[in-house]
Amino acid sequence: MLLPHIFLSAILLSGVTCRIIGLAPKPAEKQLFLSRHVVTESEEFEGGVLVDESGTIEAVLKKDSVDVLLGSEKSKDWEIIDGGSLALMAGGVDSHVHVNEPGRTSWEGYVTATEAAAAGGMTTIIDMPLNSIPPTTTLENLKIKANMAKEEIFVDVGFWGGVVPGNEEELQEMVKAGVVGFKCFLINSGVSEFPYVTPKDLEKALVYLNGSGTVLAFHAEVQVGEESPECTGPSCPDPVLYDTYLASRPEIMELEAASLIASQLSKTDVHVHVVHVSAEGVVPILEAAREERIKNGYVGWRGGVTAETCNHYLTLSSEQIPAGHSEYKCAPPIRNITNKQKLWEYIRDERLDLVTSDHSPSVAELKGPNFMTAWGGISSVQFDLSLFWTEAKARGYSLRTLTHYWSAGPARLCGLQEKKGSIRPGLDADLIFFDPNASFVVTPEIIRYKNKISPYMNRVLTGKVMQTYVRGQLVYSDGELIGGPKGDTLLSFE
Ligand SMILES: *[C@@H]1O[C@H](CO)[C@@H](O)[C@H](O)[C@H]1NC(C)=O
Ligand SMILES: *[C@@H]1O[C@H](CO)[C@@H](O)[C@H](O)[C@H]1NC(C)=O
Ligand SMILES: *[C@@H]1O[C@H](CO)[C@@H](O)[C@H](O)[C@H]1NC(C)=O
Ligand SMILES: [Zn+2]
Repeated sequence: MLLPHIFLSAILLSGVTCRIIGLAPKPAEKQLFLSRHVVTESEEFEGGVLVDESGTIEAVLKKDSVDVLLGSEKSKDWEIIDGGSLALMAGGVDSHVHVNEPGRTSWEGYVTATEAAAAGGMTTIIDMPLNSIPPTTTLENLKIKANMAKEEIFVDVGFWGGVVPGNEEELQEMVKAGVVGFKCFLINSGVSEFPYVTPKDLEKALVYLNGSGTVLAFHAEVQVGEESPECTGPSCPDPVLYDTYLASRPEIMELEAASLIASQLSKTDVHVHVVHVSAEGVVPILEAAREERIKNGYVGWRGGVTAETCNHYLTLSSEQIPAGHSEYKCAPPIRNITNKQKLWEYIRDERLDLVTSDHSPSVAELKGPNFMTAWGGISSVQFDLSLFWTEAKARGYSLRTLTHYWSAGPARLCGLQEKKGSIRPGLDADLIFFDPNASFVVTPEIIRYKNKISPYMNRVLTGKVMQTYVRGQLVYSDGELIGGPKGDTLLSFE
């Protein structure tokens, strides 16, 4: 099968959706992806990416080499996919997605989550261990989830395991099965089947995981002082106001959690990772912990201490959150504009390691106007690259920054750096064509995740994913999903 050389240019010139649904997307021959704007972490150039019959990157080529190859006999049977001036980049890796299936499939599911991911240029997502029932806290539960996912996914899906009190004996088995790491909470998780760990439980888990080369990721907030009883009566702060919720989860809860994690590091060689950093003050605490670890001889990536922030902390600020709009609720909370600016300085200076969506949907009935009782979680896996790029472009950052935080960083965290997250020979040909100049409006009609709730509704975003390829197979093109599910689960049993 040969796609016409002018295929993508045709889309651009005509503005009409090119319908190629039904064409066999499995590459039968080599593919040569071309672009005047190939983007890797370290450079941007005109050239191409040669992909072999199995969907693996064979070569990354500058324009001169492309011209030589195109003039040669051997390129005769290749499929040439020319993106013109669209940026050709590694597909994204969103290492923080709550798929919720099975058990809370009305909130989200593998089909809708991975369709949204494909439309957002995410060629890999990693499912969080909680909010599905069962949670991913045993090998058996992991198998249940993987079986569920297998036939339904449009992009590749990896899994985090969970650490909860008392499941130490399961952890090594899950490591062998290929979980990318583990997640635990230091505070109420919001669902009863995923209890948080006390410092004592944590110590135990770190001993069990020591030497396994895995990652332990933390929801880093702790209860500071006594938990105040639910306020009722006329003198209580108004729960419809965002500030009421914000005041209930101050920065100190994140800072103390970061200090608790730092205090455990001398006892273990486990890589620790803090998910969804909101309070900027967490970053210096983790940096001090990293320095200490390196001083004590730790040799792994980033001194074994990393952190992510999320698009909502980089895009929104507390001042602009309207009363009664719990689609803005997440934990830790979105903080003020000063905090947001500081997070962007950390991005600029590479003091954070990756960005994620923390895509955490629920049904609309669990939202509602009361910030104190509404489900905390923001859905945005479909808009990962566009949200980040809207802010990053306005600050003058390059697409290399986008690929650093959304592809290479999360792939590295998940131990997938020899398979995902970069344009390099030997890696999966997970590729996207991205238009960094195009803009679009977020509307319910374009949202592909299950519950069409978003704090970004009606916003104009800059940067549009035009096509998404998973291991060389086209899965999304200009508004349409192409063919059926082609994703794999990233586990070592099948
Ligand atoms: C985006 O704009 C830049 C600067 O004007 C231009 O060089 C580039 O070719 C444009 N890219 C696309 C895909 O239109
Ligand atoms: C953790 O494992 C390392 C080997 O990776 C070992 O050198 C160290 O002694 C272990 N620490 C503890 C507390 O067991
Ligand atoms: C934002 O919050 C921080 C910490 O609570 C505070 O120091 C700072 O003054 C606040 N900035 C604004 C603009 O309100
Ligand atoms: Zn989460």
